[in-house]
Amino acid sequence: MEYELIIVTGASSGLGEGFAEALAGRTRRMALVARRRERLEALAQRMQAVHPGVEFLCMPCDLSQPTERERLLESLRELAAGRTLLVNNAGLGDYGELATAAPDRIRQLMQVNMLAVVELAHGLLPRLLQVGGDIINIASLAADVFLPDFALYAASKAFVASFSEGLRLEVFDRRVRVLAVCPGPVHTEFGAVAQRAGYDRGDAPFKSCFYTRVSEVVRSALRALEAGKARAYPSVKVWVCGWLLRSLPLCLLRAMLAWRPRRVKAQPGGTA
Ligand SMILES: NC(=O)c1ccc[n+]([C@@H]2O[C@H](COP(=O)([O-])OP(=O)(O)OC[C@H]3O[C@@H](n4cnc5c(N)ncnc54)[C@H](OP(=O)(O)O)[C@@H]3O)[C@@H](O)[C@H]2O)c1
Repeated sequence: MEYELIIVTGASSGLGEGFAEALAGRTRRMALVARRRERLEALAQRMQAVHPGVEFLCMPCDLSQPTERERLLESLRELAAGRTLLVNNAGLGDYGELATAAPDRIRQLMQVNMLAVVELAHGLLPRLLQVGGDIINIASLAADVFLPDFALYAASKAFVASFSEGLRLEVFDRRVRVLAVCPGPVHTEFGAVAQRAGYDRGDAPFKSCFYTRVSEVVRSALRALEAGKARAYPSVKVWVCGWLLRSLPLCLLRAMLAWRPRRVKAQPGGTA
């Protein structure tokens, strides 16, 4: 077995579920983390039928709550006795202007997308440095650009990408690999969760051309990890798009985004 323990956060849906299924054959134990216990249990049951020799542990946890994160970390530290892979995947978005965002939602996004990623990596890193292991952090193509009407989400993913790059260089010669994954749009529950009640969000032009399948994102991430890369951009189109966003002069990018068609419109009677 390649790993003694694999931890997947946000395993109850979308990319996390995809990572768990793709990685189940490569570990002795897998810890599945998210809030929805019944989803985790159904996934564990499905995977157990295919991988009877693997121990699947469902660990319900609200990663936006510091005390729950601390409790989770304590259990994970005990489990991480051998080579460990941490997939920091849980995350959420919030479509709309910051001015009308719900304060709770802002806190939740920052806690899950940034603090949980840092605390899990920090809490497990001493063990990873002892026994070996890897960290995959799910960022986004949005890490390469600032996005009006999605400003906090894009900033949180820029944080994840930058944090991953810096951490990778701190540990790359000590048996620990760190990868940032930067997917473009993927059909998961992400869009529905990010949608605010009462808001109509039209899609950005050409967005549909950039959709990537969950399986493709997972495959590309695991290939990039094997190759020791710093970032994975699943699909050629997403890679080109990321490269263009990073290469465009800032003033041009600002002008393009300032003149975008207004995409978030309040509905009559709608609330933030
Ligand atoms: N889909 C896309 O277009 C896209 C593109 C680029 C990057 N990403 C990133 O990919 C990652 C996975 O998203 P996805 O597309 O798979 O979306 P998803 O289907 O909505 O899955 C999000 C996962 O995060 C978990 N999660 C959310 N809040 C949580 C909390 N407070 N505590 C614990 N777990 C929590 C959810 O579990 P529970 O609700 O059960 O807690 C769920 O398992 C995210 O980091 C997202 O930002 C997505």
